[in-house]
Amino acid sequence: MSPSMVMVDETRKEEEDLYQKGVKHLSENGITKLPKKYVWPVSERPNNATKGEVPYTFKSNLNLPIIDFADLQGPNRSQVLKALANACEHYGFFQLVNHGIPCDVTSSMVDVGKRFFELPFEEREKYMTSNMYSPVRYGTSFNQTKDGVFSWRDFLKFMCHPLSDMLPHWPSSPLDFRKLVVTYVNETKYLFLMLMEAIIESLGLAITTTNITRQDDTDNILEELKDGSQLMVVNCYPPCPEPHLTLGMPPHSDYGFLTLLLQDEVEGLQIQLREKWFTVQPIPSSFVVNVGDHLEIFSNGRYKSVLHRAIVNSTRTRISVASLHSVPVTTTIRPWPKLTNEANPRRYMDTDFATFLKYASSSEPKKKNFLESRILI
Ligand code: OGA
Ligand code: NI
Repeated sequence: MSPSMVMVDETRKEEEDLYQKGVKHLSENGITKLPKKYVWPVSERPNNATKGEVPYTFKSNLNLPIIDFADLQGPNRSQVLKALANACEHYGFFQLVNHGIPCDVTSSMVDVGKRFFELPFEEREKYMTSNMYSPVRYGTSFNQTKDGVFSWRDFLKFMCHPLSDMLPHWPSSPLDFRKLVVTYVNETKYLFLMLMEAIIESLGLAITTTNITRQDDTDNILEELKDGSQLMVVNCYPPCPEPHLTLGMPPHSDYGFLTLLLQDEVEGLQIQLREKWFTVQPIPSSFVVNVGDHLEIFSNGRYKSVLHRAIVNSTRTRISVASLHSVPVTTTIRPWPKLTNEANPRRYMDTDFATFLKYASSSEPKKKNFLESRILI
């Protein structure tokens, strides 16, 4: 190898090492041009229609269904259940307002997440690992050991249950991190269970007449979900020098039953409907809730796990916190037998979390590949 080729190789290695440190690091070093590593193909960049038509900008023209959680608990429950079913069937997403989690709990979660990313890199680096099975994982992009093109995001992921086993693995800095996050985890878990109870009812599975208690089989799924998994993902999207060339997160669907997404006031989430990308307008202290792959399977395709992505901007850091909920990792997920019959045969094969993790670590879990690998017909 000639000396100049050795130099080129070394420069490339230095660059690669730098990208592995994440985008907060790059942004803090004041880069003014987006490195090639982050430049997405034209057809996949923001503001482009997915099928390469005339470029579109979709700003606030998507009104996601709004579900009022307090209303769900009152005399209007049956109407709200209909709205919930409609949202899960046609959007795969809804905004949840009046959810009952105190404002200081949600704002503290965003704030402590933000403060984690403001720690010196050496502190954050302690949690960096490529091991998908690790109870806590700090990293960058989507799948930093596999991604060809990188995404403009850093993340902290941690598992939440059993809480007493997981807690010692969580970051010990900022000093109030564990205390604030435990409260947030308990509140979101409870909210998730209440939402799932409503969702099961909206699928027509629960019997609500007075003389019959809820069917055993729907109780089972709720019991499984009570003991289920909860993964918290704190996303940090720092200001990006050329946001129109890149993405904060590539198109993907979430694996679980439901994701509860909490975001600050900076917009960035986009969802794909009818082949086009729409920006979701943040509603202060609400949740964006979406159907995950496991619920699509459970409902035999009635409720949709919809593709979404994140875009970035040049001026403001954006923080989002996604709470992904499912059954315990060893539980088999299958279409609920009551929802399948001759006219509506089973559309997905059995799956479990372990199978998903194997799949995710062996290939790029982009788009709806995993779910598609489970489809029977
Ligand atoms: C996720 C996700 C979107 C966002 O964490 O799975 O889709 O806006 N996040 O950060
Ligand atoms: Ni997601």
